[in-house]
Amino acid sequence: MRKIVIAGNWKMYKDLEDVRAFCKAIASSLETKDLGRVLPILAPAYPFLALLQRELSDTSVKVAAQDASAHSEGAFTGEVSAAMLTSLGLEYAIVGHSERRAMHNESNEIVREKLMMLMDNSIKPILCVGETLEQRDADDTQKVILEQLNGCLNNVSLYSAEDIMIAYEPVWAIGTGRTATGEQAQEVHSIIRNWLTHTYSQALADEIPILYGGSVKPDNIAGLLAMPDIDGGLIGGASLKADQYLEMINIALESRK
Ligand code: PGA
Repeated sequence: MRKIVIAGNWKMYKDLEDVRAFCKAIASSLETKDLGRVLPILAPAYPFLALLQRELSDTSVKVAAQDASAHSEGAFTGEVSAAMLTSLGLEYAIVGHSERRAMHNESNEIVREKLMMLMDNSIKPILCVGETLEQRDADDTQKVILEQLNGCLNNVSLYSAEDIMIAYEPVWAIGTGRTATGEQAQEVHSIIRNWLTHTYSQALADEIPILYGGSVKPDNIAGLLAMPDIDGGLIGGASLKADQYLEMINIALESRK
């Protein structure tokens, strides 16, 4: 049985006070809850990683970084290495988010280097893939997704389904309020799962969580989670509000997949 992942990507939002208030708002209800297969993850900005881990240590929330350097260490002002994240006790990091691909020129090769660096440091990457609106309109969605998977995971060995998560995030649905329909997302999720089967194995493909991201919110998450290959969400805007984040966890708990 795959996990159902409710991952919040806070991007460059929230200062110290906001982070503290959010933790306070969710800690008590999550401390006492049996979450079963539901895995909550939160990815704050770097300065708040350690704080979040401390504040949520009595809950099952896992803290993730939003990125990591492709370099191991050295004179790279402003960069944060995977080893530094490991030293905080982190288990997860987002890599290849479309905002980084678009605004920081991250190619599939760079994403692959970052991903390898994370894995070498025992951090599980949440690898983002997704097409732009132009690519979808040109009927290139499948081609783009396969290129991204082949590029970012080229010669990358996976030994266990725990090693990685994939997030399908159509660029046109991110922060736009325009969500892919369950059917549109499912179509791409099944392409990803088939690719995992052919590239790795049926056993791994059956267990690797594939998340959907792009304007996920309490109102639409149940429909998405009802799809056979959608195993959770990578959620930006709606994860910033404690009540909405908790609501999405509760909806995931009720989903009967
Ligand atoms: P959104 O962001 O939920 O605000 O669309 C999702 C993401 O970028 O991961």
